[in-house]
Amino acid sequence: MTTPLKVLVIGTGGREHALARALSLDPGVAEVHAAPGNPGIASVASLHDVDPLDPASVAALAQRLAVDLVVVGPEAPLVAGVADAVREAGIACFGPSGEAARLEGSKAFAKEVMAAAEVPTAQARVCTTPEEAAAALDEFGAPYVVKDDGLAAGKGVVVTEDRDAALAHAAQCERVVIEEFLDGPEVSLFAITDGDRVYPLQPAQDFKRIHDGDEGPNTGGMGAYTPLAWAPADLVDEVLRDVLQPTVDEMARRGTPFSGLLYAGLALTSRGTRVVEFNARFGDPETQPLMALLDSPLSPLLMGAATGTLADVEPPRWKPGAAVAVVLASGGYPETSSSGDVIRGLADAEAVDGVHVIHAGTARDGADVVTAGGRVLAVTAVGDSLAGARAAAYDGVGRVSFDGAQHRTDIAARAAEQG
Ligand code: AMP
Ligand code: GLY
Repeated sequence: MTTPLKVLVIGTGGREHALARALSLDPGVAEVHAAPGNPGIASVASLHDVDPLDPASVAALAQRLAVDLVVVGPEAPLVAGVADAVREAGIACFGPSGEAARLEGSKAFAKEVMAAAEVPTAQARVCTTPEEAAAALDEFGAPYVVKDDGLAAGKGVVVTEDRDAALAHAAQCERVVIEEFLDGPEVSLFAITDGDRVYPLQPAQDFKRIHDGDEGPNTGGMGAYTPLAWAPADLVDEVLRDVLQPTVDEMARRGTPFSGLLYAGLALTSRGTRVVEFNARFGDPETQPLMALLDSPLSPLLMGAATGTLADVEPPRWKPGAAVAVVLASGGYPETSSSGDVIRGLADAEAVDGVHVIHAGTARDGADVVTAGGRVLAVTAVGDSLAGARAAAYDGVGRVSFDGAQHRTDIAARAAEQG
């Protein structure tokens, strides 16, 4: 029996709440700490103050708390080198180095790695002038796909039939990637890796647009579910063989091994599976339903990835049934967000069988919990079937209210109908 671990989770979002909650339920974990955290995370972890973008401060906090493992949730601290600083301080860290996090931090770099590893993805051009952008748009034709090269919290991508709108977005960015449009359903497939061994998780699906029927602008994600009964049975094996392992191997070959969570955003197109994007961290909100169904303890997987010993850890196991998360966003999202709106009905929602509420943009204001960001919370539910999980999640959603609240009513609807 190994000594139970002390773990520090860095971040403030729903993903971090879902991870901290799973760690708090893990018998191998003695203490869960989080920084900066949010009111939901406070119910499963001790909160501390830190600037998550300052590598030295995060490393110092980890040392002061004498934790065994730091889990870095969001991409910006990873790109800033937080995992490097924690490891330099002699503490195990789940999350890639700043250099390896460029797989997410630069779309152009990700394309270069995919080309080298022969990973199937959309054809793309990197453009820095309006003339180059116009030529690339005309080369690929409509619908146009224009991506800011840098980090943009899921909102730097414009997909449009309108050539002027595509050009206008390109003009706003210093460097853009313009690429071929990929048709077909999207799948989020995450893998835990120590830079060598790769353990895929169960596939999930995210809903990126703000409105029902995939209308309106892109968001960070308005809901998610897992598993995907409709996906091809060999999807995970195919993506492990053609995408995840070759990418991890290519990063190692370059001397910048990638450890942590490799997120493959995939399109199942008429011409085969293609990578839409890589992220260097767990997806939000997909992590909410995935953690709800994970049957294995989380800490050995994260510790194995952080210490290069994943081969000694059993691959993840999953509970039967399904899980659904429905995001409630604040007024004005995604263009702006409203803060300080009092959130009512949280306990009522959690009284629904199978439901728990994951906090993202929330804050305490005296006795109240109030909105404090674009995506406010995710009502997450498990059930024996997808339809059951979905019904429970929406029962919970119906019990939560705040001024300006927005949610989609069609999360997992089509998949639940198909059974
Ligand atoms: P990304 O940040 O690259 O994941 O893009 C955000 C969203 O834009 C994706 O989840 C897709 O819905 C959409 N998107 C990105 N690239 C493409 C593409 N080549 N074809 C069609 N849709 C895309
Ligand atoms: N759910 C999309 C993301 O985490 O980037």
